[in-house]
Amino acid sequence: MKTPAMMVSFLALLCLVACGTAARGIVVPKPYQGVSPPSDDFLANLDNLVAGREIYSRHCATCHGETGRGDGPAGNVDSLRPANLSSSMGVAQKPLDYWFWRVSEGGTAEPFHSQGSVMPAWKYHLSELERWQVIAYTRTLHPAEAD
Ligand code: HEC
Repeated sequence: MKTPAMMVSFLALLCLVACGTAARGIVVPKPYQGVSPPSDDFLANLDNLVAGREIYSRHCATCHGETGRGDGPAGNVDSLRPANLSSSMGVAQKPLDYWFWRVSEGGTAEPFHSQGSVMPAWKYHLSELERWQVIAYTRTLHPAEAD
């Protein structure tokens, strides 16, 4: 009776290893999965965009650059360079929960931590509301959404 059970767990283990490596994409971790802005019209709201622009120039532009291209003066580091937030090939097309996770946890999250990311974890410096506001503004830096 023991052998079939062992076979099953062996196969399950095999699949865990094989399937794990097959799906190597970065997955938004549990507490952040599916989170969304405080209200439906939040991202388009002018007050939020104005507040977000203020936060961006105070806290983000120094690394990510005024226009989000990742070319800010403090971003010139040997480790991982600041992300180009305005490129349609990059984070601009990622879902909102991905943004909220990355802005909240920054370079403390894997695999970015091991790669030497200097992106700060903004949950320690900005309220949830402020994080959503800066996300609202930052997403307008993507050419398709800018003016
Ligand atoms: C000290 C420099 C620095 C500052 C300040 C900074 N970042 Fe970053 N940021 C980085 C670096 C370096 C990366 C690339 C490594 C990574 O993804 O962790 C990054 C990555 C990101 C990403 C993820 C990109 C992706 O493709 O996953 C987002 C989103 C982001 N930053 C937004 C912001 C916002 C919004 C602010 C301001 C509230 C900010 N950053 C401030 C250095 C910085």
